[in-house]
Amino acid sequence: MDIKQSKILIIDYGSQYTQLIARRVRELDVYCEIYAWDASAKDIRAYNPSGVILSGGPESVHLPDAPPLNTDILDLKVPILGICYGMQLLNVHFGGQVEASDFKEFGYAAVELMDASQLMAQVSGHQIDVWMSHGDQIKTLAPGFKVVAKTNTTDVAAFEHPEKQLFGLQFHPEVEHTDGGRDMLSQFVHGICGCEKLWKTDNIIATHVDNIRAQVGQDHVLLGLSGGVDSSVVAALLHEAIGEQLVCVFVDTGLLRFQEGDQVMKTMADKMDINVIRVNAQEQFFNALAGVNDPEQKRKVIGEQFIRIFEREAKQLNDIKWLAQGTIYPDVIESAASSTGKAHVIKSHHNVGGLPADLALDLIEPLRDLFKDEVRKLGVSLGLPPEMVYRHPFPGPGLGVRILGEVKPQYAEILARADHIFIEELRRHDLYDKTSQAFAVFLPIKSVGVVGDQRRYEYVIALRAVETIDFMTARWAHLPYDFIDLVSRRIINEIDSVSRVVYDISSKPPATIEWE
Ligand code: XMP
Repeated sequence: MDIKQSKILIIDYGSQYTQLIARRVRELDVYCEIYAWDASAKDIRAYNPSGVILSGGPESVHLPDAPPLNTDILDLKVPILGICYGMQLLNVHFGGQVEASDFKEFGYAAVELMDASQLMAQVSGHQIDVWMSHGDQIKTLAPGFKVVAKTNTTDVAAFEHPEKQLFGLQFHPEVEHTDGGRDMLSQFVHGICGCEKLWKTDNIIATHVDNIRAQVGQDHVLLGLSGGVDSSVVAALLHEAIGEQLVCVFVDTGLLRFQEGDQVMKTMADKMDINVIRVNAQEQFFNALAGVNDPEQKRKVIGEQFIRIFEREAKQLNDIKWLAQGTIYPDVIESAASSTGKAHVIKSHHNVGGLPADLALDLIEPLRDLFKDEVRKLGVSLGLPPEMVYRHPFPGPGLGVRILGEVKPQYAEILARADHIFIEELRRHDLYDKTSQAFAVFLPIKSVGVVGDQRRYEYVIALRAVETIDFMTARWAHLPYDFIDLVSRRIINEIDSVSRVVYDISSKPPATIEWE
């Protein structure tokens, strides 16, 4: 079975929601890929989609430098759905006009559904709340199109051209706040484009397992296991596909979460029966970090040590032909966008575990076509514990970026314990899944405290918890006072060398999530 047989092409015009559109299509069990707006005719033809979705974008179609409609998609003769900017492009291309609107609409709008609409066939009700985000609107409609929805301020909130199978929505069906948005996308993808529901977790696993087996044959594959979601799922998937041919190297840097080294071994080696070599390199990392204060320098040292150790281990193994990596689809999209300069916002990290240059191994990246939510579902299906798979993100350099200034073993130990108390209480109070990321930070300054009649000078722990969708912007989590109080008491009572706990109330921007 080819689970990518029926598929959708998403053309990206720079909307912050483009990846969300793709995730929604995948949630409808249909494969899709995102191409830049100037993708070549050859690539588009080769991809051969059953339908095309044009994303929104930050530009105005009437400005001279605005990205134009990629007309190669019209040659495919498949249904096209334009969202926001994408809708306006269709209108202009087919002879309509778009103008800057007097009413810029951002946020909720009540939409009135008018004529019988093919796209809205599954949507119930005549009036729905939708999510709008536009400054331009359609002034005159291109010939042959009919209006199927409007708002108080926008005469054309949705249009269709039944013969040409072209559809346009001024609002965002991919955003959760849009009533019936999922139904519209489902109608487009399944009803109008006729895509079959083949992109399901079990099928994805079966196909990926087949592909991995075909790719590596009898060869051995090396994987750097970090304890994070992506590398754990790569391990589980490769183990399913090639069993003993997989060798994982897990480097304990001493900068991991509380008892994480033991947990990784317990889950991956003992429970999942995966071949894992644990390298206890704590001392090597702490030695290399001694006297290093500068945050960028610390990251560099950690990255270099990691590669050095990983290479040393790899060289001791015989018969390895492949190096596996946990690259996922958003990484692929973002690195393509940054190499062509088309990305509006690019998240860049220096990750621990970059590719060792002189290992001379072929690269295998089995998660390259998957979004994070798909990776997680795969992980659970493959037997990884849900609490591991749904963990908050943890930076590659680990506690190295959460200990301010020089990293010392004592600091790492204090921090890991404080962090563990915080996380344990978050889980206990059902708050863990309500925050996107939460952790403790170690401040290497001493402040006064009183224990009994004694004044003592001990370290400060800062607690950080944020709510965010994309980690590009974040709001500090408004955790209940009683809860923060409890965590603070536990940390100060249980860890002698901490005399003060503070809570970080800065949002991003301007503050970042990590303290560095
Ligand atoms: P900032 O601090 O930039 O963090 O607001 C945004 C998100 O990225 C994570 N982060 C990293 N992840 N390697 C990673 O894998 C890194 O070097 C790194 N630095 C920050 C951070 O934890 C947050 O989720």
